[in-house]
Amino acid sequence: AATLRSLAPAAGIRVGAAVDVEALEADPAYARLLAREFNLVTPENAMKFAVVQPERDRYDFTQADALVAFAEAHGMQVNGHVLVWDRQLPDWLTQGGFSRDELMAILREHIRTLVTRYRGRVASWDVAAEAVGEDGKLRDTFWSHGIGPDYLALAFRWAHEADPQARLRYNDYGGEGAGAKSDGIYRLVADLRQQDVPIDAVGLQMHVGLDDAPRADDVRINMKRLAALGLQTDITEMDVMLPLPARGTALRRQARVYGAMLQACLAVPQCRSFSTWGASDAHSWIPEYFPGQGAALLFAADGRPKPACESVRGVLRRA
Ligand code: G3I
Repeated sequence: AATLRSLAPAAGIRVGAAVDVEALEADPAYARLLAREFNLVTPENAMKFAVVQPERDRYDFTQADALVAFAEAHGMQVNGHVLVWDRQLPDWLTQGGFSRDELMAILREHIRTLVTRYRGRVASWDVAAEAVGEDGKLRDTFWSHGIGPDYLALAFRWAHEADPQARLRYNDYGGEGAGAKSDGIYRLVADLRQQDVPIDAVGLQMHVGLDDAPRADDVRINMKRLAALGLQTDITEMDVMLPLPARGTALRRQARVYGAMLQACLAVPQCRSFSTWGASDAHSWIPEYFPGQGAALLFAADGRPKPACESVRGVLRRA
């Protein structure tokens, strides 16, 4: 069968996956699957703050470099993930008792160091993630608390300074379709555009289950209104968790959810990529975070394509 990455160009998008860099080294079949099927990768953890700067001013790029080298060896684009987020922060930072000025200097230096290191090699960056709450308001986070709500605008400006060519993205979950959170994300990015902040795209993560997936029409409409602000969109972290063991009917419903979300993306020219949060069910965050759930990705643990993969291929073919 045709691979996803062979079908994607005619559909006008890239197809991506989050990569577990440790598994990349330990599991050659996983590495082969990624290289064969995808032309865009996002490090699942390897570029997060606690991983790259475990101690103040001591950077560790071992995993991030390995990911970028893997991508380059296989002609894949890299999406950097993530510069400003309130999780996976090192203790030296969260326990450091820093002033606003110190936090601004730390964040600016962190962003400058990462984005400069990979200038020209990381095509797009998740500059900021998960800043909006369920009620549509800015969440109270380590960064908003320490710096103030303008930490977002500052982060985009600092990233742009370090690599003016990089595509800069805001990435969030639960705001894919209609609702207060989608409206809040829309207001946030509209406000950033209004202030001439260098933001290029909004990532819709799409971590869903069978019963809470958004309506495809709502996703399309949401992408269209973002496009009207001059923003591109991406589906950035899709997975569809199922109760384990996954049955045939659930796998077929899952296939329809994947197909419908990809169709929504393909209906909007500004939607540029479709990524899943992992490649095969062998390496996925779901079973650890949602005990009893899993089987959320396009390929089974043994690497074989699931009905969801057939569905995605079919939608790409018909595009
Ligand atoms: O690296 C340590 C390792 O040294 C240690 O032995 C091990 C023991 O538990 O923990 C390892 O760190 C874990 C890390 O994944 C790497 O495996 C963390 O505990 C664990 O919390 C972390 O989970 C990640 C999660 O983000 C953290 O919030 C998941 O892998 C990752 O899939 C998930 O990804 C996020 C995106 O970045 C943002 N959007 C939502 C998405 C899903 O939550």
